Amino acid sequence: MKAQPSLILAFETSCDETSVAVIKDGNEILSNVVATQIKSHQRFGGVVPEVASRHHIEQITICLQQALAEAHVTYADLTGVAITYGPGLVGSLLVGITAAKAVAWAHQLPLIPVNHLAGHIYATNFVQPVHFPAVALVVSGGHTELVWMPAEGEFKIIGETRDDAAGETYDKIGRVLGINYPAGPTVDQWAHAGHETFQFPRAMIKEDNLDFSFSGLKSAFINTVHHADQVGTSLNKQDLAASFQAAVIDVLVTKTTEALAQYPAQEFILAGGVAANQGLRSALQKAVTAKGIPFVMAPRKLCGDNAAMIGAAGAMLQRHGAHADMSLNAEPGLEFEWQAAVPH
Ligand code: KG4
Ligand code: ZN
Repeated sequence: MKAQPSLILAFETSCDETSVAVIKDGNEILSNVVATQIKSHQRFGGVVPEVASRHHIEQITICLQQALAEAHVTYADLTGVAITYGPGLVGSLLVGITAAKAVAWAHQLPLIPVNHLAGHIYATNFVQPVHFPAVALVVSGGHTELVWMPAEGEFKIIGETRDDAAGETYDKIGRVLGINYPAGPTVDQWAHAGHETFQFPRAMIKEDNLDFSFSGLKSAFINTVHHADQVGTSLNKQDLAASFQAAVIDVLVTKTTEALAQYPAQEFILAGGVAANQGLRSALQKAVTAKGIPFVMAPRKLCGDNAAMIGAAGAMLQRHGAHADMSLNAEPGLEFEWQAAVPH
């Protein structure tokens, strides 16, 4: 008997994007509506949780209707509802969870709980299926994690940041350079126009573990700029950006190479918003392929937060029997390892 095609309605509201998607068989996007709130948060220099929740409430029904209309499907066609339930901002997560529960309850559909980080990794499913065992580096505004995936549905954090996430560091140093939130794309552009003339620290690079730390780099950067302001010298912003980016890339590439030496992988996946960084992508691709390991990443527009990636991970989890009931709650600090408990 032919398996019934999977048609998943997915919601993502963990931070500052309201997104709803319809995904067929875990790897085909029928619609992926993303309403970004960036403009509302820019004047504060970062995401304000209360403002984010309010925007999600305003946008969620509009995005839902648009996603169904663009996909040309009705509720009766769906086979499941996937929802990000953590990690993220509690108020933001709750808006998506409430909407997903309402649809699941009203139309008697299974509710599939998805970890946001699994979503980022499974965005690559739109390029090709994941080959196991795999190692992934998830770099975003909230996370910097090296993940070991021995088999489908199993995730183990093997390295993570001890303080700031890589994207958060881009946003914070960008602010000092006068760049609007989120600063990553502009710092990246400037870095390509500049030269590495400042020596910034590469914290933990020589330590015998796979963890990261970016707060020392952030402080060194901010101190350099403030000191120059105080003594009245002007520093070349492109060179500052290039020197900062070189330090970030150096650490991420070194730790990833070490992870691949310790964990045998059929594939390496780069995921998360910072994966859009041109310098990081080319340096990692070079280092990974030099070891004979295929380098995979999602199309650029699926690197940032979106519901399509949640639908891709949701389809995989549903195949493994993951299911939540109406008591599902937001888990702002959700750990990653839990999905290893998904039954096979
Ligand atoms: O994954 P994402 O959309 O949201 C989170 O889950 O955090 O990632 C957003 C982060 C922001 O910090 C943004 O500055 C960063 O990704 N980012 C970049 C680039 N594009 C986005 N960082 C460095 N270089 C880029 N080109
Ligand atoms: Zn994200």
